[in-house]
Amino acid sequence: MTAPAGSFYIGLMSGTSLDGVDGVLVNIAADGSPSLLARSSRNMPLELKRELLALNAPTDNELHRAHMASMALVDLYAQTVAALLRDARLNASEVVAIGAHGQTVRHRPDHGYTIQLNAPALLAEKTGIDVIADFRSRDMASGGQGAPLVPAFHQALFASAQTRVILNLGGIANVTLLEPGWPVSGFDTGPANLLMDGWCQRHTGQPYDSEGCWGDSGKAHQALLDWILRSEAWFDAPPPKSTGRDQFNLAWLDTRLAQFAQRQAQHGLTDAISAVDVQATLQMLTACTVTRAIAQHGLGQGTIYVCGGGARNLALLRKLQSQWAGDVQTTDALGVPAQDVEAMAFAWLAWAHQTKKTGNLPEVTGAAGGRLLGARWPA
Ligand SMILES: Nc1ncnc2c1ncn2[C@@H]1O[C@H](COP(=O)(O)OP(=O)(O)OP(=O)(O)O)[C@@H](O)[C@H]1O
Ligand SMILES: [Mg+2]
Repeated sequence: MTAPAGSFYIGLMSGTSLDGVDGVLVNIAADGSPSLLARSSRNMPLELKRELLALNAPTDNELHRAHMASMALVDLYAQTVAALLRDARLNASEVVAIGAHGQTVRHRPDHGYTIQLNAPALLAEKTGIDVIADFRSRDMASGGQGAPLVPAFHQALFASAQTRVILNLGGIANVTLLEPGWPVSGFDTGPANLLMDGWCQRHTGQPYDSEGCWGDSGKAHQALLDWILRSEAWFDAPPPKSTGRDQFNLAWLDTRLAQFAQRQAQHGLTDAISAVDVQATLQMLTACTVTRAIAQHGLGQGTIYVCGGGARNLALLRKLQSQWAGDVQTTDALGVPAQDVEAMAFAWLAWAHQTKKTGNLPEVTGAAGGRLLGARWPA
């Protein structure tokens, strides 16, 4: 087979859902347009997931544990790279670079820092490929949120003559608004899978609610939803904004549920809300926070194209559709598999670094200007 013109890059993404590593091998043309050649994923081993979850909050001996977890993560990264090379029948020397996001364990734009655990030197050593990593810190150093970083890629891949909203449903949800004639905007909208996963794990023992079926068998509790929306000021804050597990986690949810129960008791209401109804409410919370945030931005129409693992949560997609006047589809309709978009973004950001192009959009992150993102660990 003759390889199409362009250069090979690998993107590795392990997001806040902590479900695993998604890897892609793409061929990126001189104009930055990517074509997908191979994909491979690795589930997060339970032990590592537990450790990474623990490292999301202050914990004992965390410097040592963070480095050990980084090395375990890079093992998964290296396995993913090996599978990609095997599937695409390429040698390491044919790949220009790996864009490796790392695992976010703290995201504190309010303090000016964000931490992605990673061991790029070890990854370069294990794979024999240059690694570009630490994509977020430069944007933050210039006053930005360090997130979301994917809108520039969404623009490059999906901008058209139509108004399109690209919605990534990862642990957190983020949107990119692509309106012809307008600058791109993008921001996080709030929790997506991380709360639904956590609640599902606690009540059913399953790591996530497959296709959203469990939540779909419950009923969203309108008063609880209203309370959650009202009690969290972040939802109504204007962009630029980004968030993570630091803010949205099961402790956050438990607090809201306890406050709500207390308010109900004050009004003489004693009905407990069932676990499955809470799950349905969480689906609705994601649907509402996404569509409200888009509408607050002045957009009331256009197709929403969903990517990320949440695209498989069919009940959530139906709830989204119930809250949105335009169509809701997945990016598969645009020829890009929903589960590959974020990993492709990090291959593309590695390409941007390599070709000395700025990777952030200052109007999205709030940075003082466009910046070259990431740093290189040569093989
Ligand atoms: N069949 C499915 N049904 C319902 N939900 C699913 C299914 N498969 C995956 N998911 C959801 O997708 C999540 C993983 O999505 P994804 O990898 O996009 O998120 P992420 O790792 O947080 O990424 P990021 O933070 O970069 O957006 C799982 O934790 C789960 O909640
Ligand atoms: Mg993931």
